[in-house]
Amino acid sequence: MSHEVVEKNIGLMMILIVAVISVAGLVEILPLALQKSLVGEPIEGIEPYDALALEGRDIYVREGCYVCHSQQIRPFVSETERYGPYSVAGESVYDRPFQWGSKRTGPDLARIGGRFTDEWHRIHFMNPRDVVPESNMPGYPWLAENGIDGEITTRKLRRLRMIGDPYTDEQISGAAKAVEGKTELDALIHYLQGLGLARSGR
Ligand code: HEC
Repeated sequence: MSHEVVEKNIGLMMILIVAVISVAGLVEILPLALQKSLVGEPIEGIEPYDALALEGRDIYVREGCYVCHSQQIRPFVSETERYGPYSVAGESVYDRPFQWGSKRTGPDLARIGGRFTDEWHRIHFMNPRDVVPESNMPGYPWLAENGIDGEITTRKLRRLRMIGDPYTDEQISGAAKAVEGKTELDALIHYLQGLGLARSGR
């Protein structure tokens, strides 16, 4: 009976729907919001990106690699068998913005570090079809020609320290040197080779 009243009164139904969603939303959100340590604590082995890896990460974001690649392994056997240990929040503490994603035209990259040689990556980025004939990933040959401006790298590290990343003075003063003579391709590969090592055990 009372259900019929709700079904025939759209105003009342809307109010009740909003009430239900609000309560359910709070039940989901509040525990996470109050749990301070949710992403605040890096897991063992997770350090802020070194200067070259940080540049590599920025290239990854700039080139939109996340459009085809996730960096989040879900806790299912089908995923862990293929990619390695599932992802945990404490791995992404120094990722701004994080690159979890959900679109997988290509494989997940959360544990890609150490899986291939630098040389394999180099050939793959120049033209993926040279190593994977059926690949539909685009090539990124220009990365091998672009250099990196060490002054900007230094500024990036400094800014990140301002918002809490524990970079040391040596890391900041050595940042320009660390990227000197490197190409964007070197940086991208260096970044990828560090991904997931804290959990993959490689
Ligand atoms: C249009 C979609 C697309 C884009 C954009 C793309 N990829 Fe891929 N990627 C793929 C596909 C499909 C594969 C699987 C075939 C292959 O290995 O080439 C792949 C494979 C890879 C692999 C090998 C992974 C493995 O486990 O075999 C790496 C590493 C990789 N991509 C990195 C990148 C990076 C870094 C970028 C950005 C610079 C990028 N990809 C952009 C589609 C894409």
